Amino acid sequence: MTIFQFPKDFRWGAATASYQIEGAYQEGGRGLSIWDTFAHTPGKVFDGHNGNIATDSYHRYEEDIALMKELGIDTYRFSIAWPRIIPDGDGEINREGIDFYHRFVDKLLEAGIEPFCTLYHWDLPQALQDVGGWENRRTIDAFVKYAEVMFREFTGKIKFWLTFNEPWCIAFLSNLEGKHAPGNTDLQIALNVGHNLLVAHGHAVKLFREISPSDGQIGIAPNVAWAVPYSKSAEDRAACNRNIEVYADWFLDPVYKGSYPESLYNWFQQAGATPPVQEGDMEIIQQPIDLIGINYYHPTVNRYNPEAGYLHSEPIDMGLFKTDIGWPIDSVGLYDVIHYLQKYGNIDIYITENGACINDGPENGIVNDSMRISYLQQHIAQVHRVINDGIHLKGYMAWSLMDNFEWAEGYRMRFGLIHVDFRTQVRTPKESFYWYQNVIRNNWMET
Ligand code: NOJ
Repeated sequence: MTIFQFPKDFRWGAATASYQIEGAYQEGGRGLSIWDTFAHTPGKVFDGHNGNIATDSYHRYEEDIALMKELGIDTYRFSIAWPRIIPDGDGEINREGIDFYHRFVDKLLEAGIEPFCTLYHWDLPQALQDVGGWENRRTIDAFVKYAEVMFREFTGKIKFWLTFNEPWCIAFLSNLEGKHAPGNTDLQIALNVGHNLLVAHGHAVKLFREISPSDGQIGIAPNVAWAVPYSKSAEDRAACNRNIEVYADWFLDPVYKGSYPESLYNWFQQAGATPPVQEGDMEIIQQPIDLIGINYYHPTVNRYNPEAGYLHSEPIDMGLFKTDIGWPIDSVGLYDVIHYLQKYGNIDIYITENGACINDGPENGIVNDSMRISYLQQHIAQVHRVINDGIHLKGYMAWSLMDNFEWAEGYRMRFGLIHVDFRTQVRTPKESFYWYQNVIRNNWMET
């Protein structure tokens, strides 16, 4: 038996995002987002599912907060739906939307839970998409205006902020692979979107420094993917590097160094696409940030294959055990990728998402999701190893507090510590909930 003791000020949390849980898509003055449009388009989301109701957390947030309290988390990561704050993206401010988040944040604070707020978790107002979305630099100004409203309203109440969740998904998954809203399939569009969101990030951070008190902290949350070369060949190693860089360096080099990573830049250039950098952009992007959030799920083993996508990097199935969404379980990748990020310095890192899709449901009122417990245990052990190495890893947020709308997979893929019956909205804490509750209560974990 090994006991992993965590530092006194270590944060234990859980995470969600607005479109995945709120529902109430036509209430409270909310405008439509690109995810409403995408999910309402036949063929885009599994079995025609959408976030119209989701876990109905817009109405049930008090019940959710009571469950958070029972779980014992001290930090809750959630996102704001931009279309609730400014329904058409850059016009009138919707007081009702702001008031909803005030009520919600007040309840969290009352429960002794620190709000950790993501400004953009993919629900761009549709009205902005109608004029080009993130491809149009007007969206940068609109985002900065939205961020300003939020900073001014919640200064003092919300101390932790993330500008963007998973920039790779916003740029590449949604605009090159076409699997998420708005569903484009063009490399140049993906690079335009990725660049503009970085500029928006930089402007928002700059503004945050002017508005927020000095104990406020802000950062960005890339989904860092770790890739291990299939062989020692130079081609396989280069393919893996491209894989790692497109998730991490492509977004973090501009933030920390004010430039795009050279080899990947050249790779894209050879494919005929470059980011649309304008004078002054890189200076704006390179604002000092306080933390990075990392979302980590699984590594891959990759080899070079000129037929394999835009990176010529093919993931190989090594026969590892997989979660129900098909992602292999290998917790060491989390350790390795955090070490990789040390090239940006010993910055404050939060695991802003980590978790497993295990679709077990209730039997006699009990959800025995032992595979999720095993996944969490392995990954939290790596978190401990990282802290022991002297890295400033400050907190861990499980994805997700509860089962929710899993984007293109709809409701069939479940990541929650709490089971949700989507017909009745009944919430049932799973065995992993009680396991995590125990870890949090002790501030140590036993393996
Ligand atoms: C990444 C995203 O940020 C979150 O929205 C999603 O549900 C999880 N990973 C699981 O895929």
